[in-house]
Amino acid sequence: MRRLLLLLPFLLMSCSSPDPAVEPGVRSRTFGQLSDGREAKLFQLASPSGMVMEVTNYGGIITKLTAPDRDGTFEDVVLGFDTLEEYLVNEPYFGAIIGRYGNRIAGGSFSIDGETYTLAQNNGENHLHGGIKGFDKVLWEAEPFSMGNEYGLVLTYESPDGEEGYPGNLSVKVTYLLTADMRLIVSYQAQTDKATPVNLTQHSYFNLAGPDSDSILDHELMLAADHFTPVDAGLIPTGEIRPVADTPFDFTVATPIGARIDQDDEQLVNGLGYDHNWVLRDMGSSITLAARVREPGSGRVMEVLTEEPGIQFYSGNFLDGSITGKGGNVYEYRSGFALETQHFPDSPNQSAFPSTVIVPGEQYQTRTIFAFMTDAE
Ligand code: BGC
Repeated sequence: MRRLLLLLPFLLMSCSSPDPAVEPGVRSRTFGQLSDGREAKLFQLASPSGMVMEVTNYGGIITKLTAPDRDGTFEDVVLGFDTLEEYLVNEPYFGAIIGRYGNRIAGGSFSIDGETYTLAQNNGENHLHGGIKGFDKVLWEAEPFSMGNEYGLVLTYESPDGEEGYPGNLSVKVTYLLTADMRLIVSYQAQTDKATPVNLTQHSYFNLAGPDSDSILDHELMLAADHFTPVDAGLIPTGEIRPVADTPFDFTVATPIGARIDQDDEQLVNGLGYDHNWVLRDMGSSITLAARVREPGSGRVMEVLTEEPGIQFYSGNFLDGSITGKGGNVYEYRSGFALETQHFPDSPNQSAFPSTVIVPGEQYQTRTIFAFMTDAE
């Protein structure tokens, strides 16, 4: 068993992107204050690979993640803000941990064992990403650690019974580990004292071309999925599991995101682009490749591996140039994409979908890996 070494947080100078070589290690500094006076921290995990990740314990948000291009130049590949104050009104959920339930629950309501629960309705009549104050907007306990030359952060949160309408006290633990071989491993665990749906995910928006890029449409995407779950105009799954063959949803072979995104297709109209759950081919098996993205200009490649049965590919359709992010970058329409590993949206109301309900005594446990490389390798 590897030994966890807790490190004392120490002050860190903020640095701009692309990073000069950052000394490997874990550091922390104050990020800002919440309205109730509590302090949010910013942790920096610097890998000997050259990758640097910054995470705040407010929402477990990944504020920065650098990756090398094919010439070895590291740049920040996630969207976000420079200050905590901006994250406090983070409507697009940049970089955050999402819970208790990633994506939508129709009508903000579901039943377990004959009892109906009413959730916060924060997306029209529907419940989205855990509600008005989901896990993306709470302050997590945070403990940095190191394992040899790999660095991580353990985030824990006690979600009280009734929070946002959900039953049961839920203890949640999310671990970020930045490995020496350029992988970010995200491990999720949870236990409850009453049956409740749980569907945790990570909501980073990526642009592998780096912070100056205005579009993700040239990125080539492969999804290891032969089916997807079509949605209605409110982005609620209809219940159908539809083959992707002969549709703009077929990413079984790497295809530029922009190649078909504006086609006259009912599902693209409903999603305003891609905003759908793909049913992974190796659904529910051990950790397997779910997605691979290559940005042809820089040669950056990201693979997503998961134990989850689904992945939400969201093409940043709600970004519209109204948000100014890190370094004064304006986030234009479709300038970031999310690949959210998950159980399917609205599963608590869809008995044919894999169940998301956990019961007392059961351990919710799942892992997703974001692996970075280049096309020169
Ligand atoms: C959802 C989108 C939503 C976005 C930001 C994605 O996971 O599928 O519909 O707009 O998150 O909230």
